[in-house]
Amino acid sequence: MVKLIQVGVGGYGSSWLSTVMESQRAQHVALVDLNLEHLKQAREITGLPDSVCFTNLEQALMNGIEADALLCIVPPAYHESVIRIGVSAGMHILSEKPIAHTIQSAHQILQRFNKTDRIFMIAQKARFHPWVRRFRQIVNSGQLGQISHVTHYFRAPYYSWGEFRHQMQDPLYIEMSIHHFDLLRALLGCDPVQVWSTSWNTPYSTFAGDITGVAHFVMDNGWPITYHADAIASGDMTDWYGEIRAVGEDGTLTMIYPELYIAKKGANHTDRQAPQEFIMKVSNPQEGQLVALYEFLDAIKENRTPESSGQDNLKSLAMVFGAIDASRDQEFKQIDDYLL
Ligand SMILES: NC(=O)c1ccc[n+]([C@@H]2O[C@H](COP(=O)([O-])OP(=O)(O)OC[C@H]3O[C@@H](n4cnc5c(N)ncnc54)[C@H](O)[C@@H]3O)[C@@H](O)[C@H]2O)c1
Repeated sequence: MVKLIQVGVGGYGSSWLSTVMESQRAQHVALVDLNLEHLKQAREITGLPDSVCFTNLEQALMNGIEADALLCIVPPAYHESVIRIGVSAGMHILSEKPIAHTIQSAHQILQRFNKTDRIFMIAQKARFHPWVRRFRQIVNSGQLGQISHVTHYFRAPYYSWGEFRHQMQDPLYIEMSIHHFDLLRALLGCDPVQVWSTSWNTPYSTFAGDITGVAHFVMDNGWPITYHADAIASGDMTDWYGEIRAVGEDGTLTMIYPELYIAKKGANHTDRQAPQEFIMKVSNPQEGQLVALYEFLDAIKENRTPESSGQDNLKSLAMVFGAIDASRDQEFKQIDDYLL
């Protein structure tokens, strides 16, 4: 059993409480949250006593709590302060995305780990699904002929989406698109080289920062990706993953939840529906949370770098901050400039 301190038990943290319990390979030894009401609810869910619930992490450590690892599920602007204390206390860290709210803060976090042998992993629940591996295998197999480009469209009605997201800059890219950018790297098995973008806030937005955006990436194997996301959409919505198409000479590998299929060459203006080859069902994204936790626990046990380590995830975060800067400056940005 790996002993965990979970920092942040309200909001999305509540889903982690049950995932840790379900894992049967990790156990909470303390819970930390600024909000007493959230702590009380978490106590009821976990059955932990009041004596191991704290309003800040330092207090937990001063009270003699000993843990192997820390789960960081607080808003991104607080990741660095929480992770800094955890790593100084010798813990492995599993943190929610994004690594941090700025690229500078992400670099500072990673530099702390470079001086230790502790594991730092980002829980990107989308990349751990069997359909993602299958997509990567097909797109790289030659089965679709030569690949031309990839499109990724996302539409969601997030009119009310957790208070901090309504106040921050660039909530779309920092809070949502990080999932999609990391997923694209996992789906395609290649990494980004450059990005151009434009983002904007809709006139009817409930957000202070940009909630709609278009980004264009070029990957290191030359594949272009067009990404279009609107998190305050009207009309038809996509699933949380979005709709993803890898367009090849002989067919388009298509993911429209809950199916992965190849739409084969052969449709035309009269017969617009392409012949379909069903590949597999696509699993619910939330199921990836437990798989991500197991990857973290295995990496601790085997003393190895996990998939989605902080260092690897920096490439996904570079797509986020590259896109934000490209939109602001209206020029292509090089992804390398955002890496350590
Ligand atoms: N993977 C996903 O699908 C997914 C979904 C939602 C949120 N998230 C991520 O989870 C993290 C938390 O987001 P959320 O939606 O739960 O936020 P939230 O604001 O709803 O909840 C955050 C919780 O952390 C507590 N908190 C805040 N700062 C703290 C601190 N310094 N110390 C202790 N407790 C603190 C708050 O009281 C609250 O209970 C973010 O990084 C977010 O991006 C991921």
